[in-house]
Amino acid sequence: MPSFFAPPGSGGSGGGTIAKDAIGNDIIATEWLKTHGPGDRTLTQGLKGDPTYLVVENDKTLATYGINAVCTHLGCVVPWNKAENKFICPCHGSQYNNQGTVVRGPAPLSLALAHADIDDGKVVFVPWVETDFRTGENPWWA
Ligand code: FES
Repeated sequence: MPSFFAPPGSGGSGGGTIAKDAIGNDIIATEWLKTHGPGDRTLTQGLKGDPTYLVVENDKTLATYGINAVCTHLGCVVPWNKAENKFICPCHGSQYNNQGTVVRGPAPLSLALAHADIDDGKVVFVPWVETDFRTGENPWWA
């Protein structure tokens, strides 16, 4: 699968990967929040270089989870559709709600999660191996 951005950076504190913006810079949480408002979902470079949405909650804080943008059907990168409040895959029409839970096939599974932590001011994605808070099930991707 092609990487969305440049090759994955080396970032990382203990299994995590520093999130990178579209031009490959480390993402500083406070800076990000100056230009990304409530409800924003913007692609960043996440774990293993996977395109991953950084989510801004309605209270203007960063969500503690990122959403992997790789469609669980055949791997297209799924764009965020703000007007519909969903992620809608252009390839075969799968839809996911604003947390990445699949709401329409053919995608068989919800979008994968990663923890979005803040370490020394930077956003760090860490593999999500715990229960999927959206489904109450074990993560299919771990
Ligand atoms: S790859 Fe997304 S619906 Fe087929």
